Amino acid sequence: MSVTMEKIVSLCKRRGFIFQSSEIYGKLNACYDYGPMGVELKRNVKEAWWRAMVYEHENIVGLDAAILMHPRVWEASGHVAGFTDPLVDCRQCKMRFREDEIDPKKLENKQCPNCGTKDALTDARQFNLMFKTHMGAVEEEASLVYLRPETAQGIYVNYKNVMDSSRQKIPFGIAQIGKAFRNEITPGNFLFRTREFEQMEMQYFVTPGDDEEVFETWKASRMAWYDTIGIRKEKLRFHEHGKDELAHYAKKAFDIQYEYPIGWKELEGIHNRTDFDLSRHQEYSGKDLTYFNDATRERYIPFIIETSAGVDRTLLTVLVDAYEEEKLEKDTRTVMHIDPKLAPVKAAVFPLVNRDGMPEIAHKITDDLKKTIMVFYDDSGAVGRRYRRQDEAGTPYCITVDSQTLEDETVTIRDRDSMEQERVPVSGLIAELNKRIWK
Ligand code: GAP
Repeated sequence: MSVTMEKIVSLCKRRGFIFQSSEIYGKLNACYDYGPMGVELKRNVKEAWWRAMVYEHENIVGLDAAILMHPRVWEASGHVAGFTDPLVDCRQCKMRFREDEIDPKKLENKQCPNCGTKDALTDARQFNLMFKTHMGAVEEEASLVYLRPETAQGIYVNYKNVMDSSRQKIPFGIAQIGKAFRNEITPGNFLFRTREFEQMEMQYFVTPGDDEEVFETWKASRMAWYDTIGIRKEKLRFHEHGKDELAHYAKKAFDIQYEYPIGWKELEGIHNRTDFDLSRHQEYSGKDLTYFNDATRERYIPFIIETSAGVDRTLLTVLVDAYEEEKLEKDTRTVMHIDPKLAPVKAAVFPLVNRDGMPEIAHKITDDLKKTIMVFYDDSGAVGRRYRRQDEAGTPYCITVDSQTLEDETVTIRDRDSMEQERVPVSGLIAELNKRIWK
């Protein structure tokens, strides 16, 4: 049975991955809250990205810039003038649409895609996607600030600070994970397009002329990363932006797309942003943002190769890719084949029955394991049902204390994907789990 977005939404709620924001007040559209399982999965996604981008590259360092930035930043970046979508309204049903998402035939007749009324759509007007707010006590034009629509700009305005303080030389990169906000006209499809989300962005500063080769390297490297977090290769592909799709800052852009239940869609963007950003910030700030190469005695504004992934969209991809309704001999089980590295809970520990000293041993094992990995103790219900609950939550290993444990100090480890069980000594449990999780 194929995965649908509805099945993912339902499992996420049932198992405590993701809830609708402010649900008891009738929800806030396109905003989501991460529950106990979701928050762990999200942390693990970010950790895997940070490890691959920062810890594994000597010339990439991290940054955590403020969400609120000087309003001139967004003038320089082009967002005040150009970060817009064409908005049309239906005079009949009052729904709003992005003009570029309406079927061309309907658009020709100004027919509403929702209520079907002809001649009902207004002309398009450009709608800026940035959220505005005011800083300080007085709400006046001078106090206007924006919630950042991308994390990238925090990196550009800090490039000299970071380079000088961390003694980097070009080529080098700055990585950042953080919240971004966009007042999307048509959010939807669960986590796919929300109004508040997180990005994992890396900006790589290079000598002009080296940009095209570096672009290709990062393109390949980012695709390879999805394999390391267990996403099926056949569900991923590149999509090159045509001239009409390219963002105002980009010379070349490729999306990594995933085949979601809603079709092939962008998961991450890799962009050659040229010297656009730093040139603009130099112009608007009046500060020298050139780089001087001691060896070649050349001075230039670096080019930037950007890799930009959404945390929430990656998480959605992990969930969709992991979901399986597996037909067994007697019934069907829902199992989330989440890569053990990312799984919220690494191991669940069960006493087979709540007597004969089994709970005490199981508690002791839990206490030992929780010093290094996220574990969950469960003693309620039949052991088969406990396994199924963990399958749905994506827990890769279940450890059961049974009557044989009392005799020889061994336990069973049950593998989520194969459902096979193996007996291992309690003394070697942590080593065995670590071997399997971080393989
Ligand atoms: N700095 C470049 C930039 O922001 P983007 O293609 O607009 O490029 C990059 O966004 C990534 O951020 C996307 O590939 C997607 O994963 C994520 N993203 C963008 N808008 C989003 C939204 N409304 N909801 C969830 N994720 C979003």
